Order: sequence, then C-alpha cells, then structure tokens
Amino acid sequence: MVKICCIGAGYVGGPTMAMIALKCPLIEVAVVDISVSRIAAWNSDQLPIYELGLEEVVKQCRGKNLFFSTDVERHVSEADIVFVSVNTPTKTQGLGAGKAADLAYWESAARMIADVSKSNKIVVEKSTVPVKTAEAIEKILTHNSKGINFQILSNPEFLAEGTAIQDLLNPDRVLIGGRETPDGQKAIQALKAVYAHWVPEDRILTTNLWSAELSKLAANAFLAQRISSVNAMSALCEATGADVSQVSHAVGEDTRIGPKFLNASVGFGGSCFQKDILNLVYICECNGLTEVANYWKQVIKVNDYQKNRFVNRVVSSMFNTISGKKIAILGFAFKKDTGDTRETPAIDVCKGLLGDKARLSIYDPQVTRDQIQRDLSMNKFDWDHPIHLQPMSPTAVKQVGVTWDAYEATKDAHGVCIFTEWDEFKTLDYKKIFDNMRKPAFVFDGRNIVDVEKLREIGFIVYSIGKPLDPWLKDMPAVA
Ligand code: NAI
Repeated sequence: MVKICCIGAGYVGGPTMAMIALKCPLIEVAVVDISVSRIAAWNSDQLPIYELGLEEVVKQCRGKNLFFSTDVERHVSEADIVFVSVNTPTKTQGLGAGKAADLAYWESAARMIADVSKSNKIVVEKSTVPVKTAEAIEKILTHNSKGINFQILSNPEFLAEGTAIQDLLNPDRVLIGGRETPDGQKAIQALKAVYAHWVPEDRILTTNLWSAELSKLAANAFLAQRISSVNAMSALCEATGADVSQVSHAVGEDTRIGPKFLNASVGFGGSCFQKDILNLVYICECNGLTEVANYWKQVIKVNDYQKNRFVNRVVSSMFNTISGKKIAILGFAFKKDTGDTRETPAIDVCKGLLGDKARLSIYDPQVTRDQIQRDLSMNKFDWDHPIHLQPMSPTAVKQVGVTWDAYEATKDAHGVCIFTEWDEFKTLDYKKIFDNMRKPAFVFDGRNIVDVEKLREIGFIVYSIGKPLDPWLKDMPAVA
C-alpha cells in the first residue's frame, strides 16, 4: 500500500487529499498540520473550510484511508510521497518585503522531512512557490539526508475556491514537473499513477521542474490580468455610456479570447492572485527584467484603482459625505460559495468607507462577526497601495455591525453595497428593502448581479460597475 502524507491541512491540502483518498482506496492518505484546532475541525462535523461537496467526500473516506493528524513527524516518516501544501504568504519584513514569497513555513517543513525520514521519499511541492524553489529544497534535503534519496516534484494546484471539488474531480489539467534524470522521471511516473486513477492521461502534463513552478505563477497572473483588463474597461464604459457587459460579451465571443473570467467587478481578491503576481514581479526584478515586472505590477495597480474608484463613487453619489450614514454591506467573502475572506476587496472598500466615517452593517452568509472584525483590524502590508489605509482601531472595528440577515443589515440604511455575488442576493425582496431604507436609497452593485432597471423602477438610485450611469450619478462630481 502506497502511503501519502500531506503537510498543511488548509484550503488546498484538505480538499486535494480528500479527493486522492476517494479515488484511490488502496492509498492511505494522512493530512497533517501543526494547527491543533484545524485538525480537530477536520475530524469533526464542522469542517474548517466551506466547499460544496467537500463534507460528503471527507465523510466517505475519513477513518478508512483518510486521516487528519497533528502527529506530523510520524506520518511524514512513514510516507512514500510527501506533499507540502503549507502557506507561502508575501514577506512582510526584510529583503523583498511586500513582494517576495515567504518560504519560512516551507523551509521548516523541508528540514523536518530531512530530520525524520528513514526511507527514500518523493517530496511534492503543492504550495505555490517561486520558480527555482525546488533547487533550494533539494539542497536542504540532501545536505541533511543521511544518505536517503529524495526526489522533488512540482505539482502546483489549480483548483479554485468555491468549485474545489468539481475542479479536483474534473481538472483541466494536472501538471507534474520533475528532474530530467532517470530517478526524476521515475518519480514523475509514480505521481502520475496516483492521478491516473481518475484523470485521463492526456490531461496529465509532465514538464521540467522550473516550467511547472513558473506555470502556476503565470496562470494566476493571466487570470488576474483578464479581470484587471475588463475592470479598466469598466471605468471607460462609465465615462462614455458603453455597457461593460455588452463589451465583454462581444469581446469574449472571439474564440481566441473566450468568454470566461471577463466579469467586471469591484476587484479581484483571494489569497493567491495578488500574492502570486507580487512574487512574479519580484522574480522579474531579481532577474533584471524591469519592464516585465512593471507590466505585471500594473495588474495589481488597476485592481487597487478599481477598489478606490468604488469608494469614491459611493461618497460622491451621497452628496460627498457618508459621515454617520448607515451603509449595508452585502457579502464579505472574496467570491460566492466560500467563506474565505483573504484579500477580499470588501476589506479595502469597507476600510475606505469607514475612513469617511460611515456606519457599516455587514451580512455574509458564510463569514462570522469575529472573522470580519479580525480582517478589518488587520494591519496589511503596504506594498505601494494608495488604498491601504491605517488599520482600524479596535474600538472602531467593534462598532461595525455584523448581522445574519440581509433585511436587518439594510434596515434604515442610506445605501447598500454588494461585494460578493452570492445567488441569494439576486432574489432578495428589494421592494421590502427599499421601503425600510432612508431616502434617497442607493444600491452600489460591485458584482453586477442586480436587475438595474427593476431596482430603478422601485425607486433606487443604482450604480452598477461599468454600466451606463444613473442620471443622478451623472450630475455628481466625476470619479477618478
Ligand atoms: P492555508 O493557510 O489554508 O493552509 C496552510 C496550512 O499549512 C495551515 O493550516 C498551516 O497551519 C499549515 N502549516 C504551515 N507550516 C506548517 C508546518 N511546518 N507543518 C505542518 N503544517 C504547517 O493555505 P492554502 O490556501 O491551503 O494554500 C497553501 C498553498 O497552496 C499556498 O502556497 C497557496 O498559494 C497555494 N494555493 C492555494 C489555492 C487556494 O485556492 N487557496 C489554490 C492553489 C494554490
């Protein structure tokens, strides 16, 4: 029986390993983490992350061939294949701060693998890492290896939160990079055999190590670039009377471009896009490629611009002051069908609104009050963001209202901002919401999910990103 161990029981480690356990009943999979609370949650009825279909998969395998444990060293030492899926956040101090990936968790995992291993192992980079990380990992492992053979593979994960189980069941591709030596190729084949239990062979791509590492950064950069491109267009649409949905539809019908990932919004979020692009920028700078670095940096700058623009639009529409006005926030997660709030645009926009002294009342079906308060009080690292305002004082954060009901959040509000495209926000009783709001009542739709005409008929003044402006908004000061 092949034994797999995965270090890091997070958004990637948990679902990925659950899928391997489901599809490979003869493989024993242990997911380990230093976080006692996270492992306890994986072993309970309340999983630590929300993903459609995840609970069913975990329940089917847990205790049979899928185990969650804090006994990191034992499971690593027993495994044939060790995945490393620890977090690789942006460095906040020292050389490369604000851009480079912090590999401290990775290095500590690698040193531990070297310390506890008594047999040959395949070590798989599942985390997103800078290109050439495998070389550093190889050095750490071989210098401490006591004669054990380690083969390093890069197997970046392409799942998207919110659709993780579907993405894992039916991936567009699985990418495995390894050394071009006989041992390297043998390791690639061993990992390929695991995925081949359910992924068609032609969708399992094999490359050299550096291509696999760089492909993950490149894929995220391309995806984020599409969003920033359409968001940049949305500003021009508002200035000219074009409608960004019509423009992106017309553009996306070109088969060379394709229709996906072309929705204008308040900005992209999530733990990966910004972090991975900054990492890419840093690698380009280290290689003397200033023009290339500046090209990718612009993707993040446009994302910041879009969040800033949204704050300015809200303030300028409401007579240039939101001081003391209640504003309802619908949605805080960075996208629908997840409770993840890492780098959600809601954080920056809420901070902007609070900076202008608004009173906020926030509702998200999957995000708790504690999480929202933690996010708003967090001191984010300022790379060169104009949007990054001072962290909120704990007292100010405590005054932010958080409710479990959209109607309560919007009661007596002057305006409603929509930050997450949850399906339930499309079918709210907006007439009821309007009747209970102060007048004039504003809706600022940061995800373009409401029926603008219907809401205008009810009496709302509606701002929808990149759509022809409400006559009311046209008369207000220009927003840059
Ligand atoms: P996460 O923060 O949810 O999980 C990482 C886990 O690793 C944490 O539970 C932490 O306690 C654990 N950990 C850290 N150091 C450890 C150590 N030495 N020993 C044992 N456990 C340790 O992170 P997430 O979102 O799962 O991301 C992991 C990696 O996958 C990152 O590099 C990320 O960029 C990448 N990735 C994330 C995707 C996502 O959608 N979240 C998608 C694709 C890649």
